[in-house]
Amino acid sequence: MVIELKNVGKTYNAGKDEEVKALSNVDLKIGQGEFICIFGVSGSGKSTLLHLIGAMDTPTEGTITYDDVEIGKMKDNAQSRFRNDNIGFLFQDYALIPYRSVEDNLKIPLYFSKYKPNEFKDIINKRLEEVGMSKYLKRRVSNLSGGQKQKVALARALMCDPSVILCDEPTGALDSASSEEILKLLLKVKEQGTTVIVVTHNKMFENYSDRNIHIKDGHICEA
Ligand SMILES: Nc1ncnc2c1ncn2[C@@H]1O[C@H](COP(=O)(O)OP(=O)(O)OP(=O)(O)O)[C@@H](O)[C@H]1O
Ligand SMILES: [Mg+2]
Repeated sequence: MVIELKNVGKTYNAGKDEEVKALSNVDLKIGQGEFICIFGVSGSGKSTLLHLIGAMDTPTEGTITYDDVEIGKMKDNAQSRFRNDNIGFLFQDYALIPYRSVEDNLKIPLYFSKYKPNEFKDIINKRLEEVGMSKYLKRRVSNLSGGQKQKVALARALMCDPSVILCDEPTGALDSASSEEILKLLLKVKEQGTTVIVVTHNKMFENYSDRNIHIKDGHICEA
């Protein structure tokens, strides 16, 4: 899937006192299977850009297309279906349900997918194996380390075989050894043909990405 942003802008609370121009004039074309890092100081618009790319929010200016289709013009349920089938998210705080098992957490995206309940077990096992967490299937998430939680969150993001995975500071809460493990897993995801887009402050990522994008006051420049 080719993702293309043309002259994209995002203004929060337009016309009000608290108006914020978070992004302006963003032109960006992302090819299938690219590994892209986005850097920038706090408040520069990184998460806003990621949410727009992930069709979690709509731009106030410009257009975003996925293989030439504009998702903003689809009906709500078609948009949700598109996101569930094509886009995986990974967050700094894992966004797992802490008091449930790894297995229960991994089932959630499958309920909204094309897969049938009798296929869930195999898919969950396959994804857990990919992130090296097979033996933790029945473990409560709250009893895992941060690095282990992020591996489970990555398995969840990959559950429906997305064409792109969007990561917002995925190693922001991790020690350097766990960060390196997550980086290696993301590189493996890329090797399998998935597009990987990572917002990060972690300089280690810079050396492994295909492209590094720097964002400053809502404007992007590539380096
Ligand atoms: N929902 C919102 N409503 C109003 N303003 C917002 C909203 N989300 C973000 N902003 C503002 O838009 C600007 C960009 O925010 P964004 O979260 O994209 O920055 P960021 O680069 O991800 O920062 P950080 O590194 O701290 O996560 C900031 O000024 C922020 O306060
Ligand atoms: Mg952010």
